[in-house]
Order: sequence, then C-alpha cells, then structure tokens
Amino acid sequence: MSDDLKKHVYEADRLIAEDIEAYLDQHQHKTMLRFITCGSVDDGKSTLIGRLLYDSKMIFEDQLASLARDSKAVGTQAGEIDFALLVDGLAAEREQGITIDVAYRFFATEKRKFIVADTPGHEQYTRNMVTGASTADLAVILIDARQGVLTQTRRHSYLVNLLGIKNIVLAINKMDLVGYDAARFYEIVKDYSEFAKKIGMESFLPIPISGLKGDNIVSRSPEMPWYQGPTLMAHLEEAPVNATRLQDAPFRMAVQWVNRPNLDFRGFTGQVASGVIRPGDAVRVLPSGKTTTVKAIPSFDGDKDSAVAGESVTLTFADEIDCSRGDVITRADAPCEVADQFEASIVWMAEAEMLPGRPYLLKIGAQTVTATVTEPKYEVNVNTLDHLASKTLKLNAIGVCNISTDRPIPFEAYGANHDLGGFILIDRMSNATVAAGMIHFALRRSQNIHWQAVDVNRDAHASLKNQKPCVVWFTGLSGAGKSTIANLVEKKLHAMGKHTFLLDGDNVRHGLNRDLGFTDADRVENIRRVGEVAKLMTDAGLIVLTAFISPFRSERRMVRDLMAPGEFVEVYVDTPLAVAEERDVKGLYKKARSGALKNFTGIDSPYEAPEAPELVVNTVSLSAEDAAEQVVAAILAR
Ligand code: ADX
Repeated sequence: MSDDLKKHVYEADRLIAEDIEAYLDQHQHKTMLRFITCGSVDDGKSTLIGRLLYDSKMIFEDQLASLARDSKAVGTQAGEIDFALLVDGLAAEREQGITIDVAYRFFATEKRKFIVADTPGHEQYTRNMVTGASTADLAVILIDARQGVLTQTRRHSYLVNLLGIKNIVLAINKMDLVGYDAARFYEIVKDYSEFAKKIGMESFLPIPISGLKGDNIVSRSPEMPWYQGPTLMAHLEEAPVNATRLQDAPFRMAVQWVNRPNLDFRGFTGQVASGVIRPGDAVRVLPSGKTTTVKAIPSFDGDKDSAVAGESVTLTFADEIDCSRGDVITRADAPCEVADQFEASIVWMAEAEMLPGRPYLLKIGAQTVTATVTEPKYEVNVNTLDHLASKTLKLNAIGVCNISTDRPIPFEAYGANHDLGGFILIDRMSNATVAAGMIHFALRRSQNIHWQAVDVNRDAHASLKNQKPCVVWFTGLSGAGKSTIANLVEKKLHAMGKHTFLLDGDNVRHGLNRDLGFTDADRVENIRRVGEVAKLMTDAGLIVLTAFISPFRSERRMVRDLMAPGEFVEVYVDTPLAVAEERDVKGLYKKARSGALKNFTGIDSPYEAPEAPELVVNTVSLSAEDAAEQVVAAILAR
C-alpha cells in the first residue's frame, strides 16, 4: 500500500471509530426525520397523522392547544383532548390551508423528532407536493385497502420517486374495513410492485395499518399476526435521514458566504452537502479548479476535528486562492462535474406557462445564474406515465428539457445529491418561483464545444470601419412607426458614411424566422434569434438597427445583457394603441378586432412598455423625420 493510501485508510478508520460513531449517536437518534404523507383524498391521511401525533404523546403542547381550539371542542384542555377531536382539528386546518401550501406537523418520540408535510391530495396540487417532498427523507404513501392502487397513488408515487425519495412506505390503511385480510394486503402489494418497477422505484416497505384503530401504528396489531414487519412508528424511528446516507459520498460544500472580518482571516461558510472534511484534507474549488488544503474548521466552541454532511460549518484554507459565494469546495481527487448545459426534469409551478428561450434565474446550491430552457423533449402524463409531445409546460406539468446556463456551474446529478442537482427557476420580472428542476446529466456538447479565438476580432472589424458598433433597438406596437423611423435613421447614418444594417420584423419573418408565429413562445424565440444575429453583426463592426414589436421586457433585457455595456440603445416608439389602430397601415387591427386575426399585440396579446429605455420618441407630437433626427443625435452622442 502506498503511504498516501495507508494514510487515507487510517484516516477513514479513525473517522468511523470516533467521529462518525459520535455523530450517529448524537445526531441520528436526535435529529429530525422529515417525511411526507400522500395519497388520495379519502384514504385517511388526517386520521393517520392524528394517530401518530396522538399516540406519540409528545406532540408539542402549543400545537395541541391550537388544534383543540380549531376543532369543535372549544375549551378542551390540551391534556384531555380526545382522538376524534384531534383528527377533526387537523382536517379543519388542512381545509383552510389547502389553497396556501403545505401544512407541517411536528411530533416527537423518545428516539426522534419528526416533521411531517401534510399535502393536499387533489390533482392540481402537484406544486404543493413537490414543495413538501423536496426536503423529505421518507414518504408514506397511503392506500385505502378497499380501493387498492388508484390513479392518485400512481401520480404521487411517480412524483416521490422523481424527487429522489428512497425510503418509501406503502401504508395500506383501513385494514379493519377488509377484515384484516392478509390476501387483500398481498394483492395490493403485488399490484403496487408492478407499478413501482415501471417507474424505476428501487424498493418500498408495505405495512398493513388502521389509522383509526391504531393497528401497526405504534404497537403491533393483534388482529394481523400474519404481518411480521415493523410498525409504522418503529420504521419512522429507524429510517436513515438523508444526511447520514450522504456521509459516504465524496466531500462537497457550496459556499454560502465568505467571511473576512480582518486581513488575517478568510472563512468559507456553507452546509456540507456530502462527505466528511477534516483539517489537512486536500480540496478543490469549482468551477476554477484551484486546489489547496483545509487549514481549520473554526467554530464558536473552538476548532472542530471534522464536519460531516448536513452540518453548517466554516472552513479556512492554507493558501489564498480565489473562492467566492456559489463556488463548490470538493475533495481534490474527487471533484464534481462543471457544465453549462444539462438535461433536467422540470416541474412547472406557475400560472404563466414556460417560455422556451426566455431567460429565467436558476438557483442551485448557493448560486444564482441566468438560464434558458428548451422546448420539452417530452411532457409526462403523470397518471398514465405516457410521454407527450409538448411545446411548453403549463401549471403542474412535468417534462424533460435541456437547460443552458450563462456560465459553467459545478453540479451533481440530482439522484446523487439533491443539494447540488436540484434547482428552482425564478421569473426575472416578477421574482416568483416558477419551476423546480432536477438535473439528470450534463449534455456532452457543453463539454466538447469550446470558444474558438479568432485573430480578426470585433475591435479589428470596428476600427477598420472607424465606428463604435451598437444595437439600436426599436420597440413598440404594430403600426407605431418603428420601421419607418428605423429606415430614416439608417438612411441618415449611411449618408454619413456609417456601416449599418437594418433588421426588420416583417422581413426577418420571411427567412430566418419563417417557422415562427405569434404565440408568446414564438415571439420569445423570434427575439432570441434576432438578438443573437444583432450580436454577431456588432462583432462584425456594424451599427445594427432592429424594428420588432418585441413585446416582452424579459427578452429585451436578454438582448441588452448579450451586448457589451452601453452598446444597447433601446428606443421606445411610443404611439398609443388608439393612434396605431386609427392609422392601421396594414389593415391588421381591423382583422384583429373582427376576430379574424388571433394573438394580435395590443388587442389580445400583451405589450410591456419599456421601463427605462435610452430614448422615447413620441410619434404623436413628432414627425417621423424629427423622431429620426433625435435617434441619430442619441447614437452619435455615445
Ligand atoms: S414580435 O412580437 O415577435 O416582436 P414582429 O415585430 O416580429 O413581432 O412582427 C410584427 C409584425 O408582424 C407586425 O408589424 C405585423 O405586420 C405582423 N403581424 C402579423 N400577425 C401579428 C400579430 N398577431 N401580432 C402582431 N403583429 C402581427
């Protein structure tokens, strides 16, 4: 054995002997098991949760008191509450909470504390289930023994599996109503096994229970001597929490923040996503790939010997290497991948549908980047598991898409690590969370396509033309006068000897964008392509003029971000709808009003006016000629 390897094995032994044992002792039995309950509407979820709370007898006092108040038993003392009333209280609260989100219940036994996410069963609440399941260590899927495996059971199982919950309990409930029949139990288990295999679920633990009667919840049921497995509570007390499972994986930690109270101290704080770290360990910082060793793990109680998955810690390094918020610190010899294009599962959670090509904020680990999503490769019908062709994802839809980020990010497949492979998408304008996603793998092209450096670069092109390239982006309603003004501006610039090019909506839609229509998604793609073309033209040294309605702030901002600072000049051609409609140069407003033309901007498709354009031209008070003069002046003043 090489010295290095010996040292490594020795370290591991020592860690297992001392730290891990200590950790397990200290944490596994006292930390929180988070689980989710799901199933159909009438499968007895409230009764089961009520039973767990009631039988554990260690439900938190204030919660009990509040539930007692909510239930019909006004004035009941917490200590005296009866089981039926507790269940009533839970159900009542559940009803009230149904439109909000997920109700979290807390209870505890001598061995463990628990948080259970109680989510609504209705089909439209995929979003709530994903929220509840995203942090769960375990899922209890409830089945009514009389009903067997239902559509809802399949849907929830699919989601739970998609979200990577490995520990699954199939709680076959209401066994009292089927005469505690073993044959019925095994019949359901067989049914479910077939389905589980189809969705790639590795294993599940079936338990026959009665939430109402308390069979196999906390104590073994005398009615079902044929069942030899653990009670539900015993299993909940023994099931591994995710953090424990992740201790065996290589070390990873996303840097949440960098503390630098003085010049002598630089600490990197975050939660250990997987593995173990000790002072002296060699680490690598991603995406830069720089390596160093861990100097210390300082804490309020003095330096720590080690830190394991699930702990929030600060690390200091032996060398002054670059490491900032969002970077991922990994074991030096087992780094994670870095890429900027991925395949991922996406659960869409917003009323507004997904727009392929629109830039969203993507939050993963401790960093936020800009990302675009492609059209779904397919959408999954969660009830039948069929793959459907789809152009977009609507509220509660689940699909598989490619994602590209504006810079490379360190990641792991979601299956291996939820912290480093799970992300959310945020709308840049409203700041609302619109989707949850799970990375499958990096696209190979993201590793194999490199930027080719060219010798005759954009500066060379521009200097030969003796001008500063830019994009003058006209936006406004159809018939506002964009094309007319842009055309005049180009003529004036041309006369001055400037090298220009005008990209006009109607023209580009005859060629490059001939495949696009006027849905929101197509307009997003229209602008994305035009933005890329305009960018190439500025690289060629040109002054580019564009005349597109470009109705969405998001895409205009995307093009702005593509350009170098100061190279994007947004010109809002401000013509009120009434005026554009009155002019109706192409007769399109008339068609739109009569219903013959759908999705017409300003009529039944939105226009989002710019909030901070470089220039506003008012075509009511100004002639096109004067407006063009203003634009030229603005360009030359740059
Ligand atoms: S954009 O919204 O995607 O930016 P673009 O500027 O390319 O639109 O095209 C707009 C032009 O297409 C309009 O000037 C008009 O002549 C024509 N057009 C045809 N159908 C529509 C429609 N439904 N909405 C807006 N413009 C339309």
